[in-house]
Amino acid sequence: MKIAQLITTRRWFESYVGGFADESGKLVPLMRVKKEHSLRVETNVASIARSLHWEDARIRLADAVGLLHDVGRFGQFRDYGTYYDGDSIDHGDAGAETLAGAFPWGDVDAPVRGIILDAVRHHNKKTLPSDLAPGSQPFARIVRDGDKLDVYQLVQGYVREGRIADLLPRIRADGPLSPALCDEVRANGAASYASVRSLVDFLLVQLTWALDLNYSPSFDMLRERGYVEWIEGRLPRDGETRSLLKDLEERIRRRRTSLPE
Ligand SMILES: [Fe+2]
Repeated sequence: MKIAQLITTRRWFESYVGGFADESGKLVPLMRVKKEHSLRVETNVASIARSLHWEDARIRLADAVGLLHDVGRFGQFRDYGTYYDGDSIDHGDAGAETLAGAFPWGDVDAPVRGIILDAVRHHNKKTLPSDLAPGSQPFARIVRDGDKLDVYQLVQGYVREGRIADLLPRIRADGPLSPALCDEVRANGAASYASVRSLVDFLLVQLTWALDLNYSPSFDMLRERGYVEWIEGRLPRDGETRSLLKDLEERIRRRRTSLPE
């Protein structure tokens, strides 16, 4: 992606999101959260791409994809009042459709356009489809990493401020760790949101996200920012949970070492 195209992308994002503001130019708080999240994911993704020594044009493209990945969130919230995809629309698909119709593509060539649309469409899917175009794969992977890294930060901020219910209205802030969820994690190192009832359940699921990170700099960011330790510090300290966490840490370590530098 050219420098001018990245500049156009940033301008377009600003004005597209601005279109959801009220007469006084303000976004409702939960939309502002998504705008700020998008900007931080942009930074995360560009930083991972730089650590990987990608070429400048690819760093810019990764940056743009990071910024645009959640563009479907704004219409979703306006139309459905929720960020739960299951109750509304798939916001990755919606984002790709929005971009296909509304983004100023100008001189962006077809392969780059395809990469942006693929990465946005698939950033939120459980797994990437095996037939995803090879050229799109690194961008879909890097945006998934940058996105997860920011959600760790976002959740941590809300918990610290004592207002996690604003972000995750359906979970109990003080409920116990669900045995079914622990069994699921123990068996597959993964867990579905269906079993999440409490904040500690959600944090355990977040911990399993580390097993889905795709690039070694993402693990470095995870460690530098202390997310794993922070989550572990909030989980129960009984023997069973501890052994589950030890097992999970070992899986994360193996995943990290299996990735190319
Ligand atoms: Fe998203």
